[in-house]
Amino acid sequence: MALIEFEDLHMRYGGAAGRVVLAGASARVSRGEFVVVLGRSGSGKSTLLNILGGLDRPSAGSVRFDGRALFTLPDAALTRLRRARMGVVFQSFNLIPTLTAAENLRLPLALNRLADNGRVASWLARVGLEDRGTAWPEQLSGGEQQRLAVARALIHEPELILADEPTGNLDIDNARAVVALLDGLCREAGRTLVMVTHSREVAGLADRLLTIRGGRLVPVAD
Ligand SMILES: Nc1ncnc2c1ncn2[C@@H]1O[C@H](COP(=O)(O)OP(=O)(O)O)[C@@H](O)[C@H]1O
Ligand SMILES: [Mg+2]
Repeated sequence: MALIEFEDLHMRYGGAAGRVVLAGASARVSRGEFVVVLGRSGSGKSTLLNILGGLDRPSAGSVRFDGRALFTLPDAALTRLRRARMGVVFQSFNLIPTLTAAENLRLPLALNRLADNGRVASWLARVGLEDRGTAWPEQLSGGEQQRLAVARALIHEPELILADEPTGNLDIDNARAVVALLDGLCREAGRTLVMVTHSREVAGLADRLLTIRGGRLVPVAD
C-alpha cells in the first residue's frame, strides 16, 4: 500500500505570469520504500519535497498520506501529522544553535508529548555521538551535525523521512557515513525514505530512481 501518493501536482511561483516549477508531477511511494529523486538544479526537487512534507501548498494537485488528503486538513491537524509522522533532513543541517545536541533530540519528543525513556541517549549512541550530548551544534563538525540531524529526524519514529540533498555540504567520507546511517536505520525499521541527491553512488542504494523533467516525475533506468 502507498504511504504517500501524489497526483498531478502543479506549482507556480509568482502569480499567473510566474514561473511554473511543477507541471503535473505524480507518483506513489510504498511503505518501506527508498526512493531517490534526481534532477538538475532548479528543476523543482526541493519544491516537491516541501509539498510532500506539508510545508508548501501546491498551486494544484493532491497529496495523500496514509490515505488522508494533506491539504484538506486544517492547519493544526496538518502540523500535528507532520510533526508526528514525518522527519526531515536538510542540506544545511538546520539544528537549533541555542540548544545542545541532546536538547536538539529532545525537541521532537517534547513536541509530540513523548517521554524520553532513554531515547535521547540511545539515539546519540546510534549516530556515534554518545559523548557529545552537551556540545552545541557549532562545536560539532559538519558530519557530526548531519548525523545529529539524522537522529533528530528519526527519534520520534516517523513513518516518512524526507531528505533534501543531505550530503550536499559534506566531504565524501562523511557523506557515505550519513547515507549509510539513513539507509540502514530506515531499512531496519521499515521506514519510508524519499531523498533528493546528486550523488550517483547514493542513488545506487535506492529501490527506485525518479527524475524531474519538465515539471513531471519520470522513472530513471539504472
Ligand atoms: N519561494 C519561492 N519563490 C519563488 N521562486 C521559487 C521559490 N522557491 C523556489 N523557487 C524557484 O523554483 C525553481 C525550483 O526551485 P527548487 O525546488 O529549489 O529546485 P531544486 O531543489 O531542484 O534545485 C527555481 O527556479 C527557484 O528559483
Ligand atoms: Mg533543492
